[in-house]
Amino acid sequence: MSDFFLELAANPNARKLVTTLGLPLPLPTRLSRAEGPWEERPLAGREVVVSSAADSPVHAVLARTLGAAGADPYVLGSVSDAFRASGEAHSRPARLADDTTPERRWALVFDATPLTHPDQLRGLFDFFAPRIKSLSRSGRVLVIGRAPEDAADEVASATQRALEGFVKSVGREVGRVGATANVILVEDGAEDRLESVLRFVLSVRSAYVSGQPLRVSKRCKGAELRYTRPLEGRVALVTGAARGIGLAIAESLGREGARVVVLDRPDDAALGAEVAQRVGGAFLGVDVTDPAAGDKVVAFVQERFGRLDIVVHNAGITRDRTLAKLSPEAWDLTLDVNTSAVLRLHQALLPLLPKDGRIVCLSSIAGLSGNVGQTNYAASKAAIVGFVQAAGPKLARKGIALNAVAPGFIETRLTDAIPVTTREVARRLCNLGQGGLPTDIAEVVTFLASPGAAALCGQVLRVCGGSYVGA
Ligand code: NAI
Repeated sequence: MSDFFLELAANPNARKLVTTLGLPLPLPTRLSRAEGPWEERPLAGREVVVSSAADSPVHAVLARTLGAAGADPYVLGSVSDAFRASGEAHSRPARLADDTTPERRWALVFDATPLTHPDQLRGLFDFFAPRIKSLSRSGRVLVIGRAPEDAADEVASATQRALEGFVKSVGREVGRVGATANVILVEDGAEDRLESVLRFVLSVRSAYVSGQPLRVSKRCKGAELRYTRPLEGRVALVTGAARGIGLAIAESLGREGARVVVLDRPDDAALGAEVAQRVGGAFLGVDVTDPAAGDKVVAFVQERFGRLDIVVHNAGITRDRTLAKLSPEAWDLTLDVNTSAVLRLHQALLPLLPKDGRIVCLSSIAGLSGNVGQTNYAASKAAIVGFVQAAGPKLARKGIALNAVAPGFIETRLTDAIPVTTREVARRLCNLGQGGLPTDIAEVVTFLASPGAAALCGQVLRVCGGSYVGA
């Protein structure tokens, strides 16, 4: 699981030697990651340069959120009333970007919501081009726009669609310093929902999310936001939680206050019980393909906890072979574990979920783009995308947020099984030039399990470091 080039890059002398010799060796930048639980002020001490017109529909929420999250905002032109008020409320006075901007900036934020004509896109260039070199290592580029399909006409729609192409390309350029670029698309009337998503995307917890559009919607009923111990009092089920990504998710949910049902195969009872004890929860040994799995989970949860608020469908397998060599058993098992078991379990558990319940499914970028030797796996993970996109909007009406995460290359035993040369190439094929860690997925899942995830519903969020694979 160790990444030799990342270890090498951590050594300043080795880095210097590679640069001096001009070797074509892309040494990746070690990403900044969170070390503890959620904080009230995740942007404390971080400089954020903002371009947002005072009459933009998201200007006020931007000013308020940056202040409350502890950022030091630097604005263009003049300090608006909204930034002045936020500065006074949170003792973070906004300063003018031009003359006082410090050398390194954690984030560059451009509010493009008012743009309706391609000529106005020049504003993106004028804002980012002179500043992009001063972005910190592991920093954030963020553009805020409107959903193109909701635009008043095709010219405005084209203008807004341009934002995605822009951030995907900026992400490729800033990835070598470990920085990310994303676009948040705010639906009309959902402006107040922006807060939780802004906090997350601008924080270190989104370290491996790059080149992504995140759509903020008002479809899911809002819940009261909580930024410390957001899962206090909640009960969460995580399938496949004895190891790998599921283990990291169980740890992260437990850290934020949830009691966690650690579900894994009965064979993994010893490992699972140890995990459950550590994260503050209980182990349940069940094979998710067992037709009685749903009944077993319902009975266990009701007896031990009396409630269930969060479900994370994480258990998954690969049985890779090119189609001609793939056995019917490998096809059936992969589809059963990764898709059918998820759908069956969902039906069994849905009646238990409260009005602000949260469901997160694990898909994969292979399900979005396809992959050699993964016809079975890609089909099973694409099915999850179909499920989330179809059921997400319906559940949103009840207040339940159902979303999926599509990981790229994550360092676990699943990717450890890939032959060494393929593995080395695969982990480099993204903006950040390195594989993600289980904790990167866990941070995103924890956000999607939190009250603030009401802003997102029916979405498939890639957590892939801006992988070159797939659309
Ligand atoms: P892993 O193999 O390290 O862990 C998977 C866990 O699921 C194991 O603890 C296993 O015992 C459990 N599991 C498997 N079949 C089960 C069954 N029938 N019943 C109960 N538990 C079962 O895998 P990893 O890497 O942690 O993957 C977790 C999820 O993330 C999977 O859905 C996988 O497809 C997805 N994913 C992983 C990527 C990666 O790069 N590691 C990339 C894309 C998606």
